Amino acid sequence: MNGARFLSLFTTSGLLLLCVFSLFCSNFSPDPPIIIPSECSAENNSVTIAWQAHPSSWVEGYVLELDDGNNGAFREVYCGRETICTVDGLHFDTTYHAGLKPTTTLEKGIIVIPSAYRLRSVDEKYQVAWFQPDPRTAHQDILFLNDNLTITCQSLDDRVVLGNVGFSKGVHYWEVTIDRYDNHPDPAFGVARFDCTKDQMLGKDEKSWSMYIDSNRSWFIHNNAHSDRTEGGIGVGSVIGVLLDLDKQTLCFYVNDRRQGPVAFTGLKGVFFPSISLNRNVQLTVHPGLDIPAGDEDDENRLMFNERVS
Ligand SMILES: *[C@@H]1O[C@H](CO)[C@@H](O)[C@H](O)[C@H]1NC(C)=O
Ligand SMILES: *[C@@H]1O[C@H](CO)[C@@H](O)[C@H](O)[C@H]1NC(C)=O
Ligand SMILES: *[C@@H]1O[C@H](CO)[C@@H](O)[C@H](O)[C@H]1NC(C)=O
Repeated sequence: MNGARFLSLFTTSGLLLLCVFSLFCSNFSPDPPIIIPSECSAENNSVTIAWQAHPSSWVEGYVLELDDGNNGAFREVYCGRETICTVDGLHFDTTYHAGLKPTTTLEKGIIVIPSAYRLRSVDEKYQVAWFQPDPRTAHQDILFLNDNLTITCQSLDDRVVLGNVGFSKGVHYWEVTIDRYDNHPDPAFGVARFDCTKDQMLGKDEKSWSMYIDSNRSWFIHNNAHSDRTEGGIGVGSVIGVLLDLDKQTLCFYVNDRRQGPVAFTGLKGVFFPSISLNRNVQLTVHPGLDIPAGDEDDENRLMFNERVS
């Protein structure tokens, strides 16, 4: 019966009909939908997840499942034809995993899911760790471009910008590329409490932790205490990596894929927002939600949790 319904949708094209029919008869199951990270977001108690059909698949609809944020059971949060869904009422600062399944049959709200996809939805977990610099909480001198992912500043003084999502659990890695770098300024990268001071370098107050780096070297700074001077600086095209591991409560930094200095900070507990301080001599682009750097051996077993859909 499913087969009959499936086929009836394709009667406008004899060629397609044949092709789909043969696939269907040989145990066809569609390829998984592709999540579009740049259109996903998490804000306060809601997440928005956007996706598209796999180019080689025809599907009639999708089922989106989220776990309970505690590695527990998945529950269905959406079923239908749309390719974007916002889920509300989630716990603040909790990492949820989403599973997405295409369905080939949607009848009266009852979904028949190929069994392969039931398995896949459990195996393939996507961490909702996307964030972007947030104009609403940034110092007013910060300027936003490129859908808020690129930032610069109007002032010669350092100004702070936070991400729109805070983290309190899990392992999070993001990168920042240096698009423009004039006159050897020292932008700072790291994490902060929501209410840190925004009109000075990140790390100068007790609510922010950062690495500041110029064209020759870097330091770590928290509560205005500077430590671990490390040789190696930045220029246009450099990539800063920030690894926030809230399971181990540590913060580490990378420059061009190489670890910069020792573990920068330990004992990090509570809610931390990704953050940056910069002045007008720098322009930066943020690349959130990336895989944990390879070679960070302690973290290899966590790669699966940061899997990106491709
Ligand atoms: C998120 O929370 C902040 C602070 O409470 C609030 O200003 C903002 O409007 C909230 N955003 C949404 C989308 O509800
Ligand atoms: C950039 O931020 C502003 C202010 O919060 C918001 O209205 C706008 O939708 C954001 N743009 C994107 C692409 O998220
Ligand atoms: C920074 O390094 C450059 C060479 O890369 C050198 O010419 C310059 O003197 C250094 N600046 C400082 C302040 O050490």
